[in-house]
Amino acid sequence: MRRTLLLFAACALLLAHGAHAACKADKPDADPVSGCAKCSKDGKKCLECSERFGLTADGTCVRCTVPGYFGDKCSKCDGDKPDICLTCSASCGRRSCLGLFASEGRCEPCSDSCADCNAKGQCLACQRFYGLVNGTCQHCKENCYSCGDDASKCESCTSGYDCKDEKTCNSCDFGYGPSKKGAKDCVPCKSTGCTGCYDDSAKCTSCDTGFGLVKDACVACAAANCTNCDGDAKVCTSCSSNDTVSLGTDKATGGCAPCKDANCQTCTATDACNFCKDGFGLDEKAGTCKPCPEKATSCTFNATGTFVDACANGYGPDKAGKECKACGVDKCDRCDKLGAGFCDVYGCAEGYGYSDQENVCFACKEGCASCTETSCSYCLSGYAFADSSEKACTKCVDGDKRGDCQPVN
Ligand SMILES: *[C@@H]1O[C@H](CO)[C@@H](O)[C@H](O)[C@H]1NC(C)=O
Ligand SMILES: *[C@@H]1O[C@H](CO)[C@@H](O)[C@H](O)[C@H]1NC(C)=O
Ligand SMILES: *[C@@H]1O[C@H](CO)[C@@H](O)[C@H](O)[C@H]1NC(C)=O
Ligand SMILES: *[C@@H]1O[C@H](CO)[C@@H](O)[C@H](O)[C@H]1NC(C)=O
Repeated sequence: MRRTLLLFAACALLLAHGAHAACKADKPDADPVSGCAKCSKDGKKCLECSERFGLTADGTCVRCTVPGYFGDKCSKCDGDKPDICLTCSASCGRRSCLGLFASEGRCEPCSDSCADCNAKGQCLACQRFYGLVNGTCQHCKENCYSCGDDASKCESCTSGYDCKDEKTCNSCDFGYGPSKKGAKDCVPCKSTGCTGCYDDSAKCTSCDTGFGLVKDACVACAAANCTNCDGDAKVCTSCSSNDTVSLGTDKATGGCAPCKDANCQTCTATDACNFCKDGFGLDEKAGTCKPCPEKATSCTFNATGTFVDACANGYGPDKAGKECKACGVDKCDRCDKLGAGFCDVYGCAEGYGYSDQENVCFACKEGCASCTETSCSYCLSGYAFADSSEKACTKCVDGDKRGDCQPVN
């Protein structure tokens, strides 16, 4: 009886104590007011405190009062002993964060250069310019910004440096070079249009399109459409071309002008063709274009003689490669690889397949564009494979869901 009374009294006391303040949780992402982050269902107790508060045994939150230099960085303390820190947050400045960990109730800095460490002080992440190697932070190589878990290999370099080679940052990036010969820094190349100045930012070794390298510097080429004028801004050494017009260097003006030969596709100089239009072949010695032998779409005239490189549909080069001859196989379009007399394996006209053994083009099954004796490679347009065995093609119908029946955008 006595015992029951005592217990009752204790309970009443606890209830009275807990009831004195109904739990009110702070709004997330707002400044803590009550210090409680999560209340119990009955709204009487706090279950979880906000940052920088500690939970007491009776379910209230009190502000941490951890002493020491980093005391205010304590994010969680013991509510009944608010001067004992349990978890610390990092101390961040404008450029980097110093990791802190709780040690004997205080916030202590993680090891040097460490941005985050565990409760035992073992580093989990390093500051910039440091790599995590076996739990400690080691300085990355020179000019290296981050080096992951191997300080000897660079992952990214500081601005101006390039770490493509051997994962070090000892060479400067495109358009950068050392401020003077032998220096270890990287500054933009001095000359406008310079793309490389690897030994010395004042000494350019390569220029952008439209510039020429003249005495260690880049100068803008004088002529329109000029892409390079190394040696002299007024003498163009290569010209730009577009799909419709091909330009070559013009010795007379130092500029660029259309290729002289009307049958020339691209030229280096206006009078030096290097690629002829279809049906014409380059006379390698003269740099001009001459008509190809009959039925040849491309050919070459060189010191040995005339050679056909490609023939019109239904024709192929003869054995010597000097003439285009009819393939000689019914329904054969291409016989370039084997020469006239044989059809290429995929050389038969659309809707026909090649039989290697018989050297004939045979008709594929209905709707098939290219086939072997046993299967169809793909269907004609307007047809699609009937099923996943991909053997037969059937006509597409209205609303046909098969992929090959969908209009091509
Ligand atoms: C990391 O530590 C282990 C064991 O102490 C050692 O064998 C290994 O060589 C160390 N690795 C580096 C990169 O220092
Ligand atoms: C040549 O330059 C002019 C003017 O800049 C330009 O309009 C034209 O497209 C260029 N031609 C070629 C072939 O690049
Ligand atoms: C190609 O260059 C010529 C002459 O320079 C110019 O007139 C034409 O507009 C250019 N065409 C294209 C597609 O850029
Ligand atoms: C001429 O062109 C043919 C075919 O491209 C080649 O086989 C031959 O070696 C060339 N001759 C010379 C002298 O370049």
